[in-house]
Amino acid sequence: MWRFLIIEFQTHFSLMLEYEGLCFEESISAAKIEQEVTRVANEINADYAGREPLFVCVLNGAFMYASDLMKHISLPCEITFVRMKSYEGTETTGKVNMLIPLQVDVKDRDVIVIEDIVDTGITMHAFMNELREMGAKSVALTSFLYKPESLRYEDVKPQYYGLAIPPAFIIGYGLDLNEKARNLASIYTKV
Ligand code: IMP
Repeated sequence: MWRFLIIEFQTHFSLMLEYEGLCFEESISAAKIEQEVTRVANEINADYAGREPLFVCVLNGAFMYASDLMKHISLPCEITFVRMKSYEGTETTGKVNMLIPLQVDVKDRDVIVIEDIVDTGITMHAFMNELREMGAKSVALTSFLYKPESLRYEDVKPQYYGLAIPPAFIIGYGLDLNEKARNLASIYTKV
């Protein structure tokens, strides 16, 4: 069970939550998320004007971001889904498992991958190279969040991202702790 707490610090009030002995503090509000998603969608709309991109949403984590983003995309486009897993608990395993593979032909398509977060970049490095090998005309990445200090592969710095954040573990807005907490509307950082 989640336990929500409002804590008063010297300078501000903070919304905290406790789960399985771990403590999280609200770090990105739902209103801020909405503002950044709209900005990113507008950048994509401008850059892809006249083209028909194929969006590839990486499940599970990106389902909320993809859903919000697509509502603001005004281009003719398609969306498809893959599922990958690299995290156990609060840490990456360093290995990427493809649980649901790509089911659409990407040959000669302008592909935009939708991720929730780029951390070390291992997941996107492997997947974006695979898309290029499959003959995609172009491959771009949008990730709602990105942790620049954890990035090990410079080639997967997202072209379109919402916010750059410090390398702490976060939950909410699609991101999980052992499959829980994806449904939180704001993002919370482990303290
Ligand atoms: P990467 O391969 O190290 O870049 O990790 C990417 C994947 O790990 C993301 O798609 C998330 O599913 C997961 N991940 C990375 N950081 C976090 C986090 O702070 N909380 C929850 N999941 C995370």
